Amino acid sequence: MPASRWQTGLNELLQWNEEEENELLSLIMPSMLSRFQKKDSNSSGSDPSQMSTSAKYPDVLPILPLRGVVVYPQTAVPLTVGQPRSIKLVDEVVGGDKLVGLVAATNPELESPGPNDLYRVGTIAVVHRLLRAPDGTLRLLVQGMDRFRLGEFVAEEPYLKAKIELAPELVEEGLQIDALARNARDQFQQITQMIPSFPEELAGSITSVEDPLQTAYTIANFQRMDIKDSQEILEIDSVAEKLKKLIGLLVREAEVLQLGQKIQNEARGEIEKVQREYFLREQMKAIQKELGEKDEQAAEAEEFRKKIEEAKMPEEAEKQARHEVERLSRLPSAAAEYGVIRGYLDWLVSLPWSKGTEDNLDIAHARGILDKDHYGLQDVKERILEFLAIRKLRIERKDEAKAPSEDKIRREREGVILCFVGPPGVGKTSLGQSIARAMGRKFVRASLGGIRDEAEIRGHRRTYIGSMPGRILQALRRIESRNPVFMLDEIDKLTFDFHGDPASALLEVLDPEQNTEFRDNYLEVAFDLSQVFFITTANTLETIPGPLRDRMEIIFLSGYTESEKIAIANGYLIPRQIRENSLRENEITFTEDALRKIIREYTRESGVRNLERKIGAVCRKVATHIAEGEVEEAKITAVLVEEYLDHPIFQATEELNQRTSMPGVVPGLAWTPYGGDVLFVEATSMPGGKGFQVTGSIGNVMNESARAALSFVRSRAKQLGLETDFFNKSDIHLHIPSGAQPKDGPSAGVTIATSLVSLISGRKVKPHVGMTGEITLRGQVLPIGGVKEKVLAAHRNGLRTVILPKRNENDLDDVPEEIKKSMKFIYVETVDEVLDSALETNHRRSNPADKRSTPRGGSADKSAGSKQTSKKKPTTRKTKTNGKSTARRR
Ligand SMILES: Nc1ncnc2c1ncn2[C@@H]1O[C@H](COP(=O)(O)OP(=O)(O)O)[C@@H](O)[C@H]1O
Ligand SMILES: [Mg+2]
Repeated sequence: MPASRWQTGLNELLQWNEEEENELLSLIMPSMLSRFQKKDSNSSGSDPSQMSTSAKYPDVLPILPLRGVVVYPQTAVPLTVGQPRSIKLVDEVVGGDKLVGLVAATNPELESPGPNDLYRVGTIAVVHRLLRAPDGTLRLLVQGMDRFRLGEFVAEEPYLKAKIELAPELVEEGLQIDALARNARDQFQQITQMIPSFPEELAGSITSVEDPLQTAYTIANFQRMDIKDSQEILEIDSVAEKLKKLIGLLVREAEVLQLGQKIQNEARGEIEKVQREYFLREQMKAIQKELGEKDEQAAEAEEFRKKIEEAKMPEEAEKQARHEVERLSRLPSAAAEYGVIRGYLDWLVSLPWSKGTEDNLDIAHARGILDKDHYGLQDVKERILEFLAIRKLRIERKDEAKAPSEDKIRREREGVILCFVGPPGVGKTSLGQSIARAMGRKFVRASLGGIRDEAEIRGHRRTYIGSMPGRILQALRRIESRNPVFMLDEIDKLTFDFHGDPASALLEVLDPEQNTEFRDNYLEVAFDLSQVFFITTANTLETIPGPLRDRMEIIFLSGYTESEKIAIANGYLIPRQIRENSLRENEITFTEDALRKIIREYTRESGVRNLERKIGAVCRKVATHIAEGEVEEAKITAVLVEEYLDHPIFQATEELNQRTSMPGVVPGLAWTPYGGDVLFVEATSMPGGKGFQVTGSIGNVMNESARAALSFVRSRAKQLGLETDFFNKSDIHLHIPSGAQPKDGPSAGVTIATSLVSLISGRKVKPHVGMTGEITLRGQVLPIGGVKEKVLAAHRNGLRTVILPKRNENDLDDVPEEIKKSMKFIYVETVDEVLDSALETNHRRSNPADKRSTPRGGSADKSAGSKQTSKKKPTTRKTKTNGKSTARRR
C-alpha cells in the first residue's frame, strides 16, 4: 500500500504523542514552519531543509508512492505507511539523509504502484518524525522541500528508486500576484469560517502566510479537493496560474458550503416555527384558563348551538344537529373525526331550512316580464302563463280541495314539472330566469350533463373522506333560499352505469310525493324540496328516461328564423352587449345587412347564442377604438363586420353550390339535438363489382336505410334508366359527412337514393333543393319528424326548395309564415317523384338522358323523358364514363 495521508487527523496526532506536541504543531503550522526554517538556516545545521540548491540533493532518490494525497513543497504532512517495501524504504531513509521523493499514484486503488502508475511530478521531502504504531505501521511527518520531475527508474526492488530533476516553479512578481494570493487567502478564510470544526488557530496561521507560492501550496494542502486537481496545482509552473486554479476551486467550494448552509438554515427555521407555534398555543391556553375563558373548542360548539337556533330547522334535523354538537364538544380537536363533524354541522346550519322568498302570483305581472325579456315565443309564453295560472289557483284553493293524497288528478297535476326542449341558445335558461323574476323567486341552476353516479344528486355518505351533499343541496345552500326556481339543465344527458341510477334519484327530487322528505346521503336527515320550483331543460326528448318524461310538461322551442334573430338582436342582444361593454346607446349601431351577414356567415345555429357572442366581439372592438379616442361612434356595416370578425366561417350558399356541382352529392335535411341541419350525402364509384361501403357519421339505422336505398335503386335500375351492368362493374362508396351529429334516423332514405341515382345517371341535383323522408324497399316515401327544425335549417343554409313526404304536409303549420312564403315545398309519395323533382334532366351534350331511351318500365321520369331526344342516344355511354371518372376524381 502506498503511503497515504494520516487518516486519524491532526488532533489525534497531537494527542498521540503529547510531549512532542509543540514541536509537531510548529512543524505543521505554516507560519511557524517558515520561522522554523529561518531559525534552522541561521543555525547552519545539517538539516537538508536549509539547503537551497540542487547540489544539495542526490541525483537518485528513493521514490515513495502516495495514495490519494499530494505533498507540496513548503508544507508538512503526516503520512501513514503500511506496506513492507515502503516500511523498508522509510527505515533506510531515516537511517540516511532523510530525503525521499514523494509522487502521487495516478490510481489510488492500486496496491503497489509501479513506475508507470505514478504522476511525473513530485516533491522532494525530508522525513522529520517517525512513530511506530502498535499495529506495525509507521506514522511519519514529512516536510515538502522542492518540486522535481521523475527521471529514469534505476531500481524497483526492494523499493522504487529514480533519477530526479529539480523543477523550480516560475515565480512572478508584482501587484497582480500579490492580489491573487490575497484573494486565495480570503476565499479560504471564508471557507474555514463555514466549517465549525476547522481549528481557528490553524486557519489563522494559514491565512497569515504572505509568500504567494507558499500561500498556494499551504492552502492546497489543507483544502479538500480531487487528487487530479491537487496534482495539477503541483504541476502548474507559474505561481499565478497555480493561484488562479486554486481560487477557482475555492470559489466553488464556498458556493457548495453556502448552499448547504442555506438548506440547513431553512430546515432549522421550519422546525423552530413549529416549535414556536406550539409554544404560543400552549401559552394561550394557559392564559385563557387563567382568565376563565372557554377554550377555542368550546367556543366553536357554542357558535354552532347559536346557529342551530337561528336556522329554524325541522325537528328531526335539529335533534341530529344538537346531537352532533355534543359529540363535537367532547372530542379532542386534533381528532380526525372532529373535522368531519364540524364539516357536517357547517352544512346542517347553513342550509336554507326556513329562508325563502314571498311568491308573486300576479299573472299580468308575469306576462309583462316574459314579454319584456323575450321576443316572440308567443306559444311558449302562453304555455308558461297557463302553467303559472293553474298553480296559482291550486294554491289559492287549497282549502277547498281534497288532500292530494286522496285526489288522484290533483296529485298528478302537482307533480308536473316544466321541461323546455330545444337546441342551444333558444332561450331556455333565460325563460327560466324570467319565470323566477316574475314570481319574485331566486334562480339557481345545476347541470345534469354527464352525471352517471347517483351520488352526484343525492350525495355521498359521511363515512367517505371529503364527502359532500349532492348538487341539489349544494345549489340550495349557495342560493340561500328554500324556494328558488331551480333549473336542472341537460336532463337528456343523464347516463347510468354501475354507480346506481341517477334518474331514479332525480325522480325522488322531483316527485312531490317524495320530495317533501328528500334524504341526501350526506345529510341523512330529510330536507323539504316541495317548495322548489323545478324546471328542466333538454336538447332532445329521446334520451330522457321514460319515468321522468312522464312527469313533465314539455314545451318545445325549435329555433328562430333569420328575421326573428334580427329582431332579437336589435331588441335584446345588442342593448345587452352595449351595457356589458360599457358603451353608450348611441355609440354603436348595426345595420340590418351587418346583422344578416353575422347570422349567415359567422353563425350556423338555431338559437342566438353565437350571434350574441359575435355581437359582443364587435362591441369590444368598438369599445377599444372609443377608449383609444380613435372614434366617437361606430355604425357597423357588413364590410366592418368582416373587418372586425375576420373571415366568414360559413358561406352556406357558396358551399351548397360548390358541393352540388357534381353528380352524386345531394343535400339532405337532418334533425339533431342542436337543431336542424343540412348534410350532404355523397356517393362515388370505382371499378370493382357489387361492393358497397358506407362511411361518415352514421349509426345502424342510417346504415340500414343506405342498404335499403341501394336495393331499391338496383331493383329499379331499368325503370330508372340506369345502365344495368353498372353494379356488376363498380363498387359504390357512400359517405355522410357531418358538421352536426345527426340523429340516427331513417329520414336520410330519400337523400341516399337520390344520391345513388345521381351518381349512376350523371344527373346533378337541381340548385338549392334539399330533401328528407324515409323510404321503403318498394319506393314509397314515409313521413318523418322534426319538420320545423329541418325547414328552418334548410332556409338558414340557403336551400330554396324542400322535398317532403306528403304525409308531413300538416307539420308545415308550425313553420313561420315568412319562411313558408320564401320557399317552395314539394310533397311526394314515391321516390320516383323525388327523383323527378330533385335531379336535373341532362339535356346538354354530356347527357346521360339517353339512358332513358333504354326501355323503361317506370313512368316516373316524365319531365326528363320529355326533354330527351333520341339523337343523343349514341353519346350515352361516353357520358356515363365521364360521369364516373368525375366521381372518381373527387
Ligand atoms: N326570444 C328571445 N328574446 C330575447 N333574447 C333571447 C331570446 N331567445 C334567446 N335569447 C337570448 O339568447 C341567449 C341564449 O339563451 P339561453 O337562455 O342561454 O339559451 P338556452 O338555455 O336555450 O341554451 C340569452 O342571452 C337569451 O337571453
Ligand atoms: Mg341553457
